[in-house]
Amino acid sequence: MKYNFDEIIERKSTNSVKYDLAEELGKPADALPMWVADMDFQTPSEVIDALINISRHGIFGYYQSKEDYFEAVHHWFNTRHGWDVKKEWLIKTPGVIFALAMAIKAYTNENDAVMIQQPVYHPFAETIKVNNRRLVNNPLVNKDGKYRMDIEDFERKIIENGVKLFVLCSPHNPVGRVWTEEELIEVGDICLKHGVIVVSDEIHADFIYDGHKHTIFAKVKPEYLDNSIICTAPSKTFNLAGLQISNTFIANKKLRDKFILEMKRAGTGTPNTMGIVACQAAYLYGAQWLDELIKYLTGNLNFIREFLKERLPQIKLVEPQGTYLVWLDFRDLNLNGEELEDLVLNRAKLWLNSGSIFGPGGEGFQRMNIACPRSIVEEALLRLERAVKSLNN
Ligand SMILES: Cc1ncc(COP(=O)(O)O)c(C=O)c1O
Repeated sequence: MKYNFDEIIERKSTNSVKYDLAEELGKPADALPMWVADMDFQTPSEVIDALINISRHGIFGYYQSKEDYFEAVHHWFNTRHGWDVKKEWLIKTPGVIFALAMAIKAYTNENDAVMIQQPVYHPFAETIKVNNRRLVNNPLVNKDGKYRMDIEDFERKIIENGVKLFVLCSPHNPVGRVWTEEELIEVGDICLKHGVIVVSDEIHADFIYDGHKHTIFAKVKPEYLDNSIICTAPSKTFNLAGLQISNTFIANKKLRDKFILEMKRAGTGTPNTMGIVACQAAYLYGAQWLDELIKYLTGNLNFIREFLKERLPQIKLVEPQGTYLVWLDFRDLNLNGEELEDLVLNRAKLWLNSGSIFGPGGEGFQRMNIACPRSIVEEALLRLERAVKSLNN
């Protein structure tokens, strides 16, 4: 391995949301933070160098990317996902949730129904609600620890509620599913049949474990390309969330024009220089780093699986097919919501995401971010083991 993911890099006192907001958010100061989805690893050195180079110039006026930015983005999607994107499809956005908000405003009216599949990344529900749209939930089905979509419910709810927009989380945060092409076709065809536009959030597309394959929704059929907006970003992949750059692809010109108009209405200007520079360097030079990172995360996952099996069988791992977020099932402990929070936060001194924030179906679960050195994962599991043992005392 060229890269050392075991190294512990101090993040406290860097204004990190993950490390420095415990007091404001009412969490114990000594809780180990494994919640919000950023990583404790440095971005590849090529990205750091590119940012240093631009910083040395010292002038940070309005910035606009040129052909070479598109070429880097094209290179990434072509080589990693076999997707040949066209320049005119690309809209630079300052984040995926920003893009989702723009799509909701561009393609639906107040009180229109927008569908999601809970438990799912909680800002989906928030963004729908704060924009005064109706949230329709097509709950995921958990059968023996494996999640699938309920296709019958999906179509019925679309018809019953006159759903206008479906927000797909692919791969799915927090349950870790990498949807198969067959599953995408099931939902994609129903959306076409009922005139439902698909917003596919593919921010976790670069984290796929062995034996699984990510399929870009728009690649499945030309009709899907015409009926979807695809939200991507280098932010999860290369730990660049603070630089606020995402790449939104909209092939359908009518949909694209509406989206761009909505961005204008929101007063969106030229992109953040640092985001563009970092994304370009990451997409050109970051492939080997990412490959090694995925191997390292696989090691973390193997460690967790073994530990839980041997020492903490009361907590079940929902086997992730992608993402660096692990969905842990605590329901065998028979704790209510408050007791589970107390176990994790106060007894184990672990700061995870409580499953209930992801919506119905999340109760009794916790989401753990495993994008950190293995020694931290080990420490977290030892803390959990001690806390669970202490329950009987
Ligand atoms: C599924 C999903 N979408 C969007 C985001 C956030 O993206 P952004 O910071 O670009 O809004 C996250 C972050 O964890 C996520 O998991």
